[in-house]
Amino acid sequence: MANSIYSRRRFLGATALAGSAFAVPNILLRGQDGAGKRLNLVQIGANGKGLSDTQGVTLNHNIIAMVDVDQKRLEEAAKKNEKYNLDASKPAPAAPKLYKDFRKMFDEMHKDIDGVIIATPDHTHFLAAMWAIKHGKHVCVQKPLCNTIWEVRELHKAAKEAKVITQMGNQGRTMEGQRLAKEWIEQGRIGTLKEIKLWTNRPIWPQGPMEKVLKPQPENLDWDLWLSSTPSEPYFEFPEDKQTKRSNGPHPFAWRGWWSWGSGALGDMGCHIMDATFSILNQVIPTKIEVESDTISDLCAPNWTSLKYHMPASDKQQAMTVSWQDGMKNGVANKPEKPDMIKQDTWDKASSGMMFIGTEGIVYEGDAYCKSPRIFPEDKYTEARAALGNGTHKKTEARSPMPDNPQGEWAHCIVNGGTPSSNFDYSAALTEFVLLGNLAVRSQQAISWDKEAMKVTNVESANQFVKRPSYRPGWIPA
Ligand SMILES: NC(=O)c1ccc[n+]([C@@H]2O[C@H](COP(=O)([O-])OP(=O)(O)OC[C@H]3O[C@@H](n4cnc5c(N)ncnc54)[C@H](O)[C@@H]3O)[C@@H](O)[C@H]2O)c1
Repeated sequence: MANSIYSRRRFLGATALAGSAFAVPNILLRGQDGAGKRLNLVQIGANGKGLSDTQGVTLNHNIIAMVDVDQKRLEEAAKKNEKYNLDASKPAPAAPKLYKDFRKMFDEMHKDIDGVIIATPDHTHFLAAMWAIKHGKHVCVQKPLCNTIWEVRELHKAAKEAKVITQMGNQGRTMEGQRLAKEWIEQGRIGTLKEIKLWTNRPIWPQGPMEKVLKPQPENLDWDLWLSSTPSEPYFEFPEDKQTKRSNGPHPFAWRGWWSWGSGALGDMGCHIMDATFSILNQVIPTKIEVESDTISDLCAPNWTSLKYHMPASDKQQAMTVSWQDGMKNGVANKPEKPDMIKQDTWDKASSGMMFIGTEGIVYEGDAYCKSPRIFPEDKYTEARAALGNGTHKKTEARSPMPDNPQGEWAHCIVNGGTPSSNFDYSAALTEFVLLGNLAVRSQQAISWDKEAMKVTNVESANQFVKRPSYRPGWIPA
């Protein structure tokens, strides 16, 4: 990523073009020096992750509307946003308009909106983002960008045509640590990179084959809007032994394990844990993925998965494999073997992690975002830190103006110019890399991928999972 991504000229060109492509783009800052301008933003999926996504922008911008299909959660989110401003010694913000259907919100408010933040369950990302883009709005969408590869490609194409400023919410991409890990590897701190190993303790929500127990729909929830474009079905909860403190059924949070609405542990954590890998391997797309997993069903992702992605060479790295492990296998964490050079207590603390294994050492991160990577053996880490201190470390990666705040960085780029760290040119391909693993999981066979043709070439039946079988009418904007 060159430093020139934060170029003002490119931003102005893009927004001017967006202005000509749509009837009412309302991009406040087109052709002006926008520094200090407050944007008019909307939060779709107001509670859950939406709360912290709103917090990333609310002190500097106006939240003019919030949308959530759960009335109770919607009102709570509006109250929490007001409190967040007051706690930061800001005046109480003007009350946002509250909606349960984002299509109605766009119909009524599109003239006033500059940008839209989307933090709904995965199955609604594509729909809400397409509605935003249709109206010429900048979009910041939670990870994974979408939960099918077809949706990812369509959304990326639409955003490019609209020339809107885009971002995915994978915060690791904005952090210093991910940049340092790439620079250490490219500057030879671990010799030659040979192999990458990734893991997570997820799922921490029910997954695996599961019954649906029909229950009356909660009064505060519009279940049919929650289902959105997926087939209509009665409200249900999980069997009692699968219920958790957080949720009795798919809403809230526990939709993650269901193929219709989530994308399993891999889709949930892959856009974080595979992010540094994708950057370090120069954004290549795998050609083959091998799979082993616990029992799958047509409806739900398995309780554990082990994958091996075969990554082609780039101009900076040789071809290599990237392994992914998640869940609990036979009662123990499904994770790689501990290398001797990593201390046991360091290893045991890591619920998720990544190892970039070189001929002379390992870049190690014991978390999902590559926020604080280190190098083993220790003396190599000491040398790397000394190089940072004495200025001999070369900072070749562009730094984010707002580390650990992808929503804030996105808004900053809309106002001041520039391209967000996880703009769709990057994050669409990252999401495709991640979701390819689910094609292998769902077909239970090693798959070979032809990215130009968007096709699995060796297992025809795997192609049924590249795109949803159907969408209910009225959800994909015309
Ligand atoms: N970047 C991160 O670290 C991070 C962390 C958690 C979640 N996420 C992502 O954020 C998204 C939301 O996850 P969550 O854990 O908050 O889920 P959640 O189910 O807890 O919350 C989602 C909210 O969206 C609302 N909603 C559902 N359908 C909607 C619709 N059609 N229109 C408007 N609102 C709707 C729900 O009522 C709920 O309040 C997911 O894509 C998830 O992967 C990212």
